Amino acid sequence: MAYAAFRSIGAYVPSKILSNEDLSKMVDTSDEWITKRTGIKERHIAASDEFTSDMGAKAATLAIERSGLDKSEIDMVVCATISPDYFCMPSTATIISTKLGLGNVTAFDISAACTGFVYVLSIAKAFIEAGMKKNVLIIGAEKLSAITDYSDRGTCILFGDGAGAAVISATENKEEAIIDIHTGADGKFADLLMTPDGGSGSAHDTLEQEASSCFMQMKGNETFKVAVKTLTKDVIDILRENNIQSADIKHFVPHQANLRIIKAVGDALKLKDEQVVLTVAKYGNTSGASIPMAINDIYESGKLQAGELMLLDAFGGGLTWGSALVPFSPLK
Ligand code: ACO
Repeated sequence: MAYAAFRSIGAYVPSKILSNEDLSKMVDTSDEWITKRTGIKERHIAASDEFTSDMGAKAATLAIERSGLDKSEIDMVVCATISPDYFCMPSTATIISTKLGLGNVTAFDISAACTGFVYVLSIAKAFIEAGMKKNVLIIGAEKLSAITDYSDRGTCILFGDGAGAAVISATENKEEAIIDIHTGADGKFADLLMTPDGGSGSAHDTLEQEASSCFMQMKGNETFKVAVKTLTKDVIDILRENNIQSADIKHFVPHQANLRIIKAVGDALKLKDEQVVLTVAKYGNTSGASIPMAINDIYESGKLQAGELMLLDAFGGGLTWGSALVPFSPLK
């Protein structure tokens, strides 16, 4: 039986920084409010000619280099994004494959908002365990600045741009394998966080649609409450089902939406501060890119070592949620 191993990680962050101070000149807000309510200090914003696929390709290049594989060995590319280069086609995954010179591979996008990376991880695991693919490149890439309303103080303070990528490979060694992944969704909460127009579900006359209606809209407070409840339950379930204690987790890598949400979940699970990975202060919420960017952060700072167990936990628009128990298993 083939198992799926998490071999490598890479990320890319655009150079331009948008600070809380900068935002306070654009909308009625302050560094103090944003810091207190979210823990975010700054976020990175892509250049106008820098697309989601450009960021995804840069993160993926690093992940492939660090995997020890030749790029010709990658046989599938899956990209999680809610801010694709083009809303219908081509998929951002196909554009990234071409930018990387991967040639003929299976490539497609998925839409699961901030849970996107956990979803693509589960897809990679399933294809590998079914014996259909051997080396899957998974990417979370977002140019959220393209779908953010910078006149809405309730959302524009939260989001940033960036990308993360990982290579998931087949292994026969069960010790290296991803242990378990949970994914879920419930469309009855769809209206908590959505881009209401721009798709076929729009009630508008398509010829009269305004660009601004394609921006994200969120019922922040209600989303917050569902997020804490769902994130905590999901982690308790996956730990219990796999007979793993929270003390066995070396790195808890939650979706970086809000420091208060992360703290509430960490407290409920009795996690120590050193177990909890935090990047929300410097990157804000980068949706599907946030978890791989956070994993890359601990990798580049030397904190993530071979064999260490990560617990991923995500929540996002849809609503969607997911968690995963993942040992870091680079090739020796
Ligand atoms: N600056 C100053 N005041 C503000 C701002 C701001 N940027 N934004 C809102 N306020 C005001 C509100 O108008 C309100 O004022 P009022 O009391 O006079 O009506 C007050 O602050 C409180 O507003 P709340 O919305 O209740 O503030 P809350 O503490 O809930 O914080 C926040 C808002 C940060 C958005 C929070 O609700 C949150 O993080 N929600 C969850 C976000 C999330 O996890 N999303 C899911 C993932 S994202 C994805 O899938 C793409």
